[in-house]
Amino acid sequence: MPVAKTIARQLENASWIRRMFEEGVRMKRERGADAVFDFSLGNPDVEPPPAVLDALRRVVAGNRPGSHGYMPNPGYPAVREAVANKLQRETGLSFTAEDIFMTVGSAGACNVILKSILDPGDEVIVLMPFFPEYQFYIANHGGRMVPVETDATFLPDVERIAAAITPRTRAILLNTPNNPTGRVYPESVLRDLDAMLKRAGQPITVISDEPYKSFVYDGGRQPEVASFIANTVICNSWSKSLGLPGERIGYLALSPQLEDAALLRGACAFCNRTLGFINAPAIWQWVMLESLDATIDAAIYEHKRNVLCDALEAIGYEVRRPEGAFYIFLKTPIPDDIAFTKLLAEQGVLAVPGTGFGRSGYIRLSLTIPLERIEGSIGGFRRAFLSSRGDKQG
Ligand SMILES: Cc1ncc(COP(=O)(O)O)c(C=O)c1O
Repeated sequence: MPVAKTIARQLENASWIRRMFEEGVRMKRERGADAVFDFSLGNPDVEPPPAVLDALRRVVAGNRPGSHGYMPNPGYPAVREAVANKLQRETGLSFTAEDIFMTVGSAGACNVILKSILDPGDEVIVLMPFFPEYQFYIANHGGRMVPVETDATFLPDVERIAAAITPRTRAILLNTPNNPTGRVYPESVLRDLDAMLKRAGQPITVISDEPYKSFVYDGGRQPEVASFIANTVICNSWSKSLGLPGERIGYLALSPQLEDAALLRGACAFCNRTLGFINAPAIWQWVMLESLDATIDAAIYEHKRNVLCDALEAIGYEVRRPEGAFYIFLKTPIPDDIAFTKLLAEQGVLAVPGTGFGRSGYIRLSLTIPLERIEGSIGGFRRAFLSSRGDKQG
């Protein structure tokens, strides 16, 4: 059966993350699970908080009438209202239930908003390095991804973004705390972006993809993008914050400051339906109503970050400590990140080459691996470092 040419092409560039994850499955079969240290996939290894699992039991036992039926496409009104109230408290903006659309994760939210605003050939600016799935989400809806380099510290470069805007630019995708770099965009950058967008002379939507919002370390906090950038649409989920990525529950929130919001609301409800999602999972909407204040203990990831960063620095790697999310974007000791990924794999350590995120010379390490596995991997990181320097003792 022939496959569409577009999909065949996309499959050829299939995600390095998935490729390395599959390589891990193969290596574990060959060498045994204990000999493989898999830093490839961002699949939280911390179980959901007990309060969330208790809420799930209560919701299932309660078996509300109609709780397995179709519902309004944007989701249950009571759940949307609770999410809106929480966003009101967090952003200081007057979100209402009408602004909230319960979605199939943050990925579902991104697809709903992109489908709602893109015509074929419209452009979406994405900041490099970027979450690789964005290119496919944009292509799903006929859009054209316009990658724009960040500055030397991976923060948005407002001048470069301004220079990339064309009459076809419809949106800028922001992701902070960032996957893969771990950067947390500060208030000053968000203010500068907002000022630049107000000068742009055309409506450009900022799609703020925020699944890592609750993972900020060293006592820091993610400034609310919607509080600083007027034209913001938020995509969020509980995949990472509650360790629930398989349950596919998240939301899209349209800022009350958006112009023409009524039209966009109708479009988002329609697209949630016609993308085939129909609505977000019913049971999990009710669970979230009872769990909006729950979070995983981010200190677990902060501790793992410290252990791994300290060890890598001691070996001689050039390390930039992530301020948030749960990845380390590590400079490779040789410029060829794919070659270095192979050296690591020989040592049983699996990483994702930065090339897969649009930035060579780096690898991404996910901290969703148990602490004792991180400790067990350090010898492999040392041997790969030394052998990249041509030191055969490595
Ligand atoms: C930046 C980013 N956005 C979106 C997603 C998808 O999240 P979800 O499981 O909520 O769809 C991920 C998952 O890794 C991600 O890293």
